Amino acid sequence: MEVKEIDAGGHPVVLGRDALRALDRTLAHGGFSAAFILGDENTLRHCLPELLSQVPRLRDARSLVVPPGERSKDLSVSTDIWQHLAEEAADRHALLVCLGGGVVTDLGGFVAGTYKRGIRCVHVPTSLMGMVDAAIGGKTGVDLAGLKNMVGVFHDPLAVYLHLPFLKSLGKRELLNGLAEMIKHGLIRDADLWNAINGAALHDIDALSPLVVRSAAIKAEVVKADPREAGLRKVLNFGHTIGHGIEAHSWESPQRALLHGEAVAIGMVCEAWLSWRMDLLSREAYDSIAKQLLALYKPYQFDSGDDHRLVELMRNDKKNTGGQFRFTLLTAIGQAKVDVHVTAAQVQEALEHYRLLVRS
Ligand SMILES: NC(=O)c1ccc[n+]([C@@H]2O[C@H](COP(=O)([O-])OP(=O)(O)OC[C@H]3O[C@@H](n4cnc5c(N)ncnc54)[C@H](O)[C@@H]3O)[C@@H](O)[C@H]2O)c1
Ligand SMILES: [Zn+2]
Repeated sequence: MEVKEIDAGGHPVVLGRDALRALDRTLAHGGFSAAFILGDENTLRHCLPELLSQVPRLRDARSLVVPPGERSKDLSVSTDIWQHLAEEAADRHALLVCLGGGVVTDLGGFVAGTYKRGIRCVHVPTSLMGMVDAAIGGKTGVDLAGLKNMVGVFHDPLAVYLHLPFLKSLGKRELLNGLAEMIKHGLIRDADLWNAINGAALHDIDALSPLVVRSAAIKAEVVKADPREAGLRKVLNFGHTIGHGIEAHSWESPQRALLHGEAVAIGMVCEAWLSWRMDLLSREAYDSIAKQLLALYKPYQFDSGDDHRLVELMRNDKKNTGGQFRFTLLTAIGQAKVDVHVTAAQVQEALEHYRLLVRS
């Protein structure tokens, strides 16, 4: 069998041509009383046939379907799944197979982590965001009253299985969404990955695959070193402080709502600029980051009157305690520094810089 494993601390990430066959083997030896497959309408349509063809031991498994999209990360949807499992008499030895993007793995991980005080689950991510980020690291959760990830648990899957051909049915916007996290991984840890992404043809999944694997390995490395977010995991926040503000702002007018990765791409332009402004990063490095991100991601238009609201939204972010902004900034392409104090005035300057960049 052609499989490789990356250690993510609490679980392995299994990859290679036969990754799904390795899942079949796990099913043979895991002592599960039953298996259930959780997916959304899209992932069950596009990915379930391939999963079943490579994992014959799942052919009798029940599938549970949720509507696609963030709205399924909800307690009422969790309740439906708990109830369904109970009706099917699922016991503590049942397995939940989460087949989908970050919504399905966050929701499924949460349901598995809480049903009967925790049953085992595996993640089979199908979106790029899922493969390089959401499925790895054991963080699960659902949203509450519009606030993201308010209720959740750490619950490591038994393993995460990366099957890259699933990406072939993913739309371009969703690919770019996940690519933003890959770019982030390159910028904080691996200049070669950054350079390779710059030269890659996005639509060519086979060419992209080794970069996806490298990016997943970076996420695995970071969560392994800091499984419960005590410190190092903060490097993953690069682009996310301003990015979360932009994302929340965009959702205030739903017709211009941005995907998470699209907002993080803008956040990375602003935060790379701050890195330069604070003498941490060279101008040349900043210029190349801005050029590449602006070429890939559509500009977000806002005016100076929005700055105040944006800063306020960033303050509400749980990571900015005590009204202080603590950023993860870059010291070079491939190197980051955590806990850099930044003032609201400097954040505003960065927003103004971005505004001018996309106007010209
Ligand atoms: N737990 C974590 O550490 C972590 C990290 C990052 C993101 N997240 C969470 O992940 C979620 C976002 O994940 P996402 O971007 O994957 O969103 P998603 O799960 O909603 O997937 C995006 C869209 O793509 C569709 N899709 C997925 N795979 C497909 C495929 N192979 N072919 C065709 N369509 C496919 C889905 O049905 C959905 O419509 C957010 O809720 C975010 O909070 C969690
Ligand atoms: Zn992110």
